Amino acid sequence: MEPFVDPGKKFETKETYTGLSTSKLTCITCISKWFLRNQNIVFRSVLTSLVFVIFVLIAIRNGQDGLSREVSFRLTSLENTVGDLTQKFLEEKHRADTLFQQLTSLENTVGYVTQKFLEEKHRADKLFQQLTSLENTVGDITQMFLEEKHRADKLFQQLEKSRVKRRHNCHKAHDQTQTNVATSVAFSAYLARDLDNLGPDQTVIFENVTLNDGNAYNPLLGTFHVPRAGMYFFTVTLQSFQKRRQWFTLVADRQMQTELLFYPFGHQMATNTAVLRLNEGQIVRVAASEKGVSLQNGYTSKFSGFLMNEC
Ligand SMILES: *[C@@H]1O[C@H](CO)[C@@H](O)[C@H](O)[C@H]1NC(C)=O
Repeated sequence: MEPFVDPGKKFETKETYTGLSTSKLTCITCISKWFLRNQNIVFRSVLTSLVFVIFVLIAIRNGQDGLSREVSFRLTSLENTVGDLTQKFLEEKHRADTLFQQLTSLENTVGYVTQKFLEEKHRADKLFQQLTSLENTVGDITQMFLEEKHRADKLFQQLEKSRVKRRHNCHKAHDQTQTNVATSVAFSAYLARDLDNLGPDQTVIFENVTLNDGNAYNPLLGTFHVPRAGMYFFTVTLQSFQKRRQWFTLVADRQMQTELLFYPFGHQMATNTAVLRLNEGQIVRVAASEKGVSLQNGYTSKFSGFLMNEC
């Protein structure tokens, strides 16, 4: 029979290796001693098997414990990692939310600006259309103005041409008459003596003549005889010495042309002019308009006239 070589020592080494506590080792030592004392082979075998089974069970349990500790440790570490990641994820989510809000706000702003831009563009387009229409109107008006100007220029040219023609004709007529009659027709005469108590339509005779070109003024009758048709200028100045109202007139033939009026203040002067287109042979004179009027002699009572032109 082979001696049972130090099975306790074997187990002890194994137990120490698997990390058993001192109380467990003591128990195992005592069981081993008891086992060595027992000489029954069957009993020993059964017991050895039992011990072996127990050892295996203990080893399994210890292994399980270690594993569960490892798993727990890893789980905790994983939990921590998950926690950290969750934290980070929440932070990132918060940042992303903030960014999303900013983006939304930016989008709104962009939308608003786009809207405004479109509105402004619409307004600008409208203004541009109005401007174009205005430009067209201005163009039309300019065109019309140019046409009217052209017409006016043409009319002006025609007028100028007719004027030149008329002047030319006038000069021709003038040159023709120049050979027959004296060119200048002009006279000036004043009262040589006081006139008193003149009657209606009585001619005022300005006897003292200072000028009588063309001899058209008759100082004996006080009448101017139109030598040839044309435009004549006359001026009359009278002085009254009476303190009463007095009327005088410049007449061409029987037609009154100009009036002179005095108010009753004494030694008043009245004057008037007449520009007349006259025909050859007409008679121009100054006449009293009412009964019993009077005039002061001298240069203060004067009748003058001249031919302006024959056209
Ligand atoms: C009028 O003319 C005459 C003769 O030339 C002259 O003697 C007389 O003084 C003149 N009369 C006046 C008021 O000047």
